[in-house]
Amino acid sequence: MVDEAQLDGLKQQFQADLASTTSPKAVQAVRDKFLGRKGGLVTGLYAGLGTAAPEARREIGRLLNTLKTEIEGALDARQAALATTAPAGPRLDPTLPGRPAIIGHVHPLTYLRTRIEAYFAAAGYEILDGPETEDDYHNFEALNLPPEHPARDMQDTLYLEKPWTRAVFPVGADRIAPGPGGPAPRAGRAERPATLLRTHTSAMQIRYMERHEPPVRIICPGRVYRRDNLDQTHTPMFQQVEGLVVGEGVTMAQLKGTIVAFLRELFGARIDITFRPSFFPYTEPSADVFLRDPARGPKWLEVLGCGMVNPAVFEAVGYDPERYTGFAFGMGIERLAMLLFGVDDIRQFYENDVRFLEQFPQ
Ligand code: DAH
Repeated sequence: MVDEAQLDGLKQQFQADLASTTSPKAVQAVRDKFLGRKGGLVTGLYAGLGTAAPEARREIGRLLNTLKTEIEGALDARQAALATTAPAGPRLDPTLPGRPAIIGHVHPLTYLRTRIEAYFAAAGYEILDGPETEDDYHNFEALNLPPEHPARDMQDTLYLEKPWTRAVFPVGADRIAPGPGGPAPRAGRAERPATLLRTHTSAMQIRYMERHEPPVRIICPGRVYRRDNLDQTHTPMFQQVEGLVVGEGVTMAQLKGTIVAFLRELFGARIDITFRPSFFPYTEPSADVFLRDPARGPKWLEVLGCGMVNPAVFEAVGYDPERYTGFAFGMGIERLAMLLFGVDDIRQFYENDVRFLEQFPQ
């Protein structure tokens, strides 16, 4: 006959089994084990009741009913709890493709600057860094813009609050030091304190020629600053690439050939190129280069200034203007990028909206 101790043991066994269930299916298995119509442990005990004495039968029957009710309640509660937390599908699907890691993206202006550098490096040009703070002499005066020259009004300059003398910058073997530490300037030119933010990379023409004899073949990419308000085509800081070639017998035809070959490499055949006469104090004759993408409309966009180096510049750096000729050019990276990528607002390059930046080649 069943006794109370046996029922207690059964109850404990049930509780242990139930506690180890982690899925609705496992709960069902416990339910079958204890309450199953055939072979259920609790169900089986009811069958034995028939042979018990009437007194004991009533008592045991009551205990069995209580146990069965408890078990049913516990099973239902567990079932409900697991149903709400159970994942909808399999926990891990090893056949799913992995998620690509999110890595950084090259900024479109960096991409373009790197392309420009690679093009000119392959053509034998040296690539130089330069200081973003400049003195008046290198930014203006030596470029044939004396203090009272009206051409200075072409650029609205940002001046420093007070002059400062630059510390020694780290210098690579093929780079030029902006101050003391680079190759010594030829003919005892002292470093001057910087008074302004450079308005163009043309200042690097002077710095390089002061320290090197011809032949010269350099480009200088870098940031420049102007007192411009932010609008669709202007930013107070933008980037230029300066180019300078000096030697014996350097011609305007070579300048034109160089510029056209470069622009064709960048844009392919789809773009129209035109040279228009212009004026820069440091070149004579001078030209502006305009580009037009027929697919995007009839408007010409000025992207580059250039010309034959003015003999007055050679005199300032101590080159013999009778012996040497040269050409120079300065291009705006943002303007080129706008045309190359079809961007019509320059400000987008500096807003750092990842959704914008992600759209460009790496
Ligand atoms: N410095 C000019 C500018 O900022 C660009 C330029 C024009 C550079 C003619 C040159 C040049 O070297 O020859 O607009």
